[in-house]
Amino acid sequence: MALLRAENLTVRYGALTALSGMSWQVSGGEILGIIGPNGAGKSSCFAAVTHAVPRDGRVWLGDEEVTGLPTYKLARLGLRRTFQQNAFFGELTLLENAMAAMLREHSTSLARSLALPWQEGRTRAQAEAAAAELLSSFGIAHSDHGKRPGDIAYGTQRLLSIVLAYGAGAKALLIDEPAAGTGGADMQRLADLLVNLRKRGVAVVVIEHHMDLIMTIADRIVVIDQGRKLAEGTPAEIQRNEAVLEAYLGRAA
Ligand SMILES: Nc1ncnc2c1ncn2[C@@H]1O[C@H](COP(=O)(O)OP(=O)(O)OP(=O)(O)O)[C@@H](O)[C@H]1O
Ligand SMILES: [Mg+2]
Repeated sequence: MALLRAENLTVRYGALTALSGMSWQVSGGEILGIIGPNGAGKSSCFAAVTHAVPRDGRVWLGDEEVTGLPTYKLARLGLRRTFQQNAFFGELTLLENAMAAMLREHSTSLARSLALPWQEGRTRAQAEAAAAELLSSFGIAHSDHGKRPGDIAYGTQRLLSIVLAYGAGAKALLIDEPAAGTGGADMQRLADLLVNLRKRGVAVVVIEHHMDLIMTIADRIVVIDQGRKLAEGTPAEIQRNEAVLEAYLGRAA
């Protein structure tokens, strides 16, 4: 069954219709790729799903319709989005950022113990261990955990945004251009991270311009052009789709 389902989403910015009648669904443990030219409406699609913009259409998370819920409630239910730009607490270390992300949707006793570490030192130590395990399990080296986000490599920052969105667990993650500005080894670490999320049963939706990455990791792909769905299929089907080749892949390649 689909873990996340978007039906007939339409987004207008004033007179401009950025997204029109967009529908797709993704299961837990599946990676859905979204591709399309610049300005096609891909990021608007994420904004629509997470209710970050006014939109028409409907959204389901599991068997619950969540169309009317605000962004922060969707996040609490485990539907979260990363952005084309990085976003962290710049003054906190990676470990502290990870702790903050993990207790964002979690127990107040844990939150209290972080505020009053002298009262519940053991709980704090456990929270630190869990945060370190989270970072390490997604490929962020222990030697980076004590650094601030501004002091680590750009490729690692891109990984960090996704790990923080995952936090203590997510049902569905919408990831916007994770490979932007990276290449080579970073691309492989990113691919490993996305596959790791799939293994954990997360419904993963990835917008990406790097065709080699998306064609390798995606189970299915939706192509958006001028706000509309141009095609949907497996990577192999998309790569030989005439309309896609003409509108997008022919140019991107
Ligand atoms: N907040 C906004 N206000 C007005 N117009 C917007 C806004 N956000 C996006 N647009 C416009 O809506 C259209 C779709 O933009 P969107 O950012 O969704 O495209 P995209 O597919 O993510 O592009 P890119 O690949 O460049 O990130 C574009 O014409 C863009 O200029
Ligand atoms: Mg975009």
